[in-house]
This record gives sequence, structure tokens and C-alpha cells, in this order.
Amino acid sequence: MTDEANIFIIIRQAALTISHQLLGIRVWIVGNGNLMQATKLGKWAVVTGATDGIGKAYAEELARRGFAIVLISRTQEKLDDVSKAIESKYNVETKTISADFGSVDIYPKIESGLAGLEIGVLVNNVGVSYSYPEFFLNIPDIDSFINSMININITSVCQVREISFSFMSKGVILNVASASGMYPVPLLTLYSSSKAFVDFFSRGLEAEYKSKGIIIQSVLPFYVTTKLSKIRRATLDIPTPERYVKAQLSTVGLQTQSNGYFPHAVMGWVTTALLPAKLLNKYVMSVGLSQRARYLKKQKQG
Ligand SMILES: NC(=O)c1ccc[n+]([C@@H]2O[C@H](COP(=O)([O-])OP(=O)(O)OC[C@H]3O[C@@H](n4cnc5c(N)ncnc54)[C@H](OP(=O)(O)O)[C@@H]3O)[C@@H](O)[C@H]2O)c1
Repeated sequence: MTDEANIFIIIRQAALTISHQLLGIRVWIVGNGNLMQATKLGKWAVVTGATDGIGKAYAEELARRGFAIVLISRTQEKLDDVSKAIESKYNVETKTISADFGSVDIYPKIESGLAGLEIGVLVNNVGVSYSYPEFFLNIPDIDSFINSMININITSVCQVREISFSFMSKGVILNVASASGMYPVPLLTLYSSSKAFVDFFSRGLEAEYKSKGIIIQSVLPFYVTTKLSKIRRATLDIPTPERYVKAQLSTVGLQTQSNGYFPHAVMGWVTTALLPAKLLNKYVMSVGLSQRARYLKKQKQG
């Protein structure tokens, strides 16, 4: 290779590194400014799975930013508690719709509950995982497990056509996938695949609707301290839902696909860009196997 060619490669590498760092600074330090405000997007934010964990944190943070909130979840009692707490703390209107996303006949009810509202944000957050890592064919009551996971994790997100496009003229749709949709996670195979679907679906829709003023983002968290993750103690790499959501909302409009939280972005980069897929697969399988063994041992003991 000639000296000129070497210099060109070095300059190109330096330019790429600098532009990546600038983009990182823009996303993780500067953020999206005031984009996620009711005054910019529309009066109402709709959040599915809004009574616990990440969904509840979205509902609260969006209320803090001035949105009126539609809370959609399964249990009316929990919906009433969260809606009362949000109304009194943030002084915004709320509306609740109880619906079990395990069924597919709930969408007309949701649609009529949303009719006439000026919707600026939809957070497709509802999701379920395994109760413990398991080999696919050993999953207890597998038919109903498959049916319910597909309805809750996948169908709920596809039904945005009814929920949002009919009511939104501009706005933001956040589809909560998972880092486990970025590569296969054996022993959580159906969950991981359902989240890969959500990620692909979001990225396809984003390209289709960008020019119509609707931002669609695929959100890919690693662990967050919630009931679903069964992790209670927050650490730097496992944030509370509140910390995660605050960070995530700063990435809207800047990234089509986002891990949402800087330490998670680093983990996403290491696992997908740095580690060879074979090694990653082996590592993830071994973690799943040891979690499975621990769970089964506990079950036996008690
Ligand atoms: N936590 C994590 O580490 C993590 C990591 C990556 C991705 N995620 C994703 O983040 C999203 C939220 O997870 P989370 O950890 O916050 O979960 P969570 O704490 O278990 O909360 C789930 C919420 O969804 C509702 N819900 C569950 N099943 C429902 C159903 N069949 N119909 C209607 N509502 C239902 C629950 O309401 P009820 O209590 O009334 O059922 C609750 O409000 C999920 O999509 C999950 O896959 C989570």
C-alpha cells in the first residue's frame, strides 16, 4: 500500500471516530432538548403496561413533562391507584382502560377509549417474559404460554395501526423491545425472538412513517429493577425504572434504535460489535443454565 493510501485510511478512521464521539455526545450528554413535551407533540400520552415497572415510570415522567396520561393495563385497582397518584402529584388529567393483552378482542375497547383524544405519544411497553429460563420444549403449559407471549409482546405492538395512526397527526411511538432481541438468548428463546420482532417492526415502520412526522423508536433495555427482571437492587448497569426512563427519553428523535441508557449502550456495543457471536451465544447459554439450575433447586427446596 502506498503512503497516500495509508494516510487516507488513517484520516478516514479518525473522521469516523470523531463523528461517532460527536454523535455520542449529542445523544448521551446534550440529549433531545425539549422534544418530549405536551406542548410540542399533543396533549395525551398513552402507555401500555402502565401500572408497574418501566411503564409506570414512563407514565410518571411523561406526566411530569405536562402530558395528560392514558394508562392501559390489566388490573383496574392498580390503574386507579396509579392514576390517582399521577393526578395529585403532577396535576394532569388521566384516563384508564383495563385490558388484558393476552386476548386479541380488546382492541375495539381500547380504540373507543382513545377516540377523540389528541395523542402525542404512545409507549408500547406491555410485555411478559419467562418465569425462569427453560428449554423450549420443557416449558410448562406450552400452548397457552406461546399464545399469551405472542399476543402480549407482539400483537399489542402491531395494533398501533388502530391505536395511533388513526388518532395521531404527528408524534412519537416508543416500542419497548429488549436487549435480548439484539441477539438470540437461549432458554428465553421465545421472549428474545418476540423482542427481535418488536425491534425489526419498529425500524421498518420508522422508515415508512418518518416523512409523515411520526417518530418511531425501538427501545432495547438491558436489566432494569422491576418485577419482570426480579432484580431489586439498582446498580450502575441495572438502573431503577425511573432512572432508565429519564435517560431513554433524551434519546428520542436522535436514535431510531436505542439501548436508552448510557451503560446499556456500552453493553450493547460490547455484545454486538466486539464479542464474536459464537462466544456470546455460549456465554448467554451458560448464564441461562445457571439461572435455571438455581431456580429449579429453590423450587425443590421449598
Ligand atoms: N425489566 C427489565 O429488565 C426489562 C429489560 C428489557 C426489556 N423489558 C421490557 O420492558 C417492558 C416492561 O417490563 P417491566 O420490567 O416494567 O415489567 P413489569 O414490572 O412486570 O410490569 C408489567 C406491566 O405490564 C402489565 N401487564 C402484564 N401483563 C399484562 C397483560 N396481559 N395485559 C395487560 N397488562 C399487563 C402489568 O400490569 P398488571 O400488574 O396489572 O398485570 C404491569 O403494569 C416489557 O416489554 C419488557 O419486556 C424489561
